[in-house]
Amino acid sequence: MTAQTIDGKAVAQQLRADVARRAALLAAAGHQPGLAVVLVGDDPASQVYVRNKVKACEENGLFSLLDRLPADVTEDALLARIAELNTDARIDGILVQLPLPAHIDSHKVLEAIAPDKDVDGFHVANAGALMTGKPLFRPCTPYGVMKLLEAYRVPLAGAEAVVIGRSNIVGKPMALLLLEAGATVTICHSKTRDLIAHTQRADIVVAAVGRAKMLKGEMLKPGAVVIDVGINRDENGKLCGDVDFDSVVNVASAATPVPGGVGPMTITMLLVNTLEAAERKRP
Ligand code: GUN
Repeated sequence: MTAQTIDGKAVAQQLRADVARRAALLAAAGHQPGLAVVLVGDDPASQVYVRNKVKACEENGLFSLLDRLPADVTEDALLARIAELNTDARIDGILVQLPLPAHIDSHKVLEAIAPDKDVDGFHVANAGALMTGKPLFRPCTPYGVMKLLEAYRVPLAGAEAVVIGRSNIVGKPMALLLLEAGATVTICHSKTRDLIAHTQRADIVVAAVGRAKMLKGEMLKPGAVVIDVGINRDENGKLCGDVDFDSVVNVASAATPVPGGVGPMTITMLLVNTLEAAERKRP
């Protein structure tokens, strides 16, 4: 078996075209959807992510406001800035790029974002809404994974799904979205005793651990669908995921590459969430 490559770029492009169309409708009616991105400090990876988010807004007809704050900004000053954005009528979505410097309480900052502008879906109100089956904003990366599975018509109802990773940003919301779609979900993590016993039973494996090429072909059931959320560097400094693509390609029925799989979907779903926040305000 040779796995089908799940083309995240192509699916993202289709969704972005729809975002651009709907954003133009809102703009014509008098309000261009707007995203505020807050970047604290000069972490190089965060700078790249933020630049790509702003660029995606520009390319698809969304207004964006990039707020760069120095690494030594006080927590109070950051909270005051968020309070301003919460009441800024031009802004439909607010994103504070993580990680934040150690002297700032990330939890407190995320809780300060108005839940109806929390396009990352990280506020406890939005996490709770997702948990109880009435999500307002789905966190962008797991939401993008669901869109990929939908685009490739991967059956979810009754499927055995294994999520490796239990972060608030990916693992936990991923498991909830798969559960909502009717999958039987197992969350594995660093303390899981026998990872292979779980992955070998799975119809769908989502790897979100942050360890280069940790998921190998021999850990899979033949025909499994493999989703790679990881972005790492291999021993030669080359970009790679959590999945050893070359070894799974002969076992899986479909798999996402890195780059070009989940990555393009994450920013796309940020655009979708921002657009929907704007649409909600102006029915
Ligand atoms: N840092 C890494 N991933 C994310 C994300 O999805 N949202 C934000 N705000 N920061 C991140």
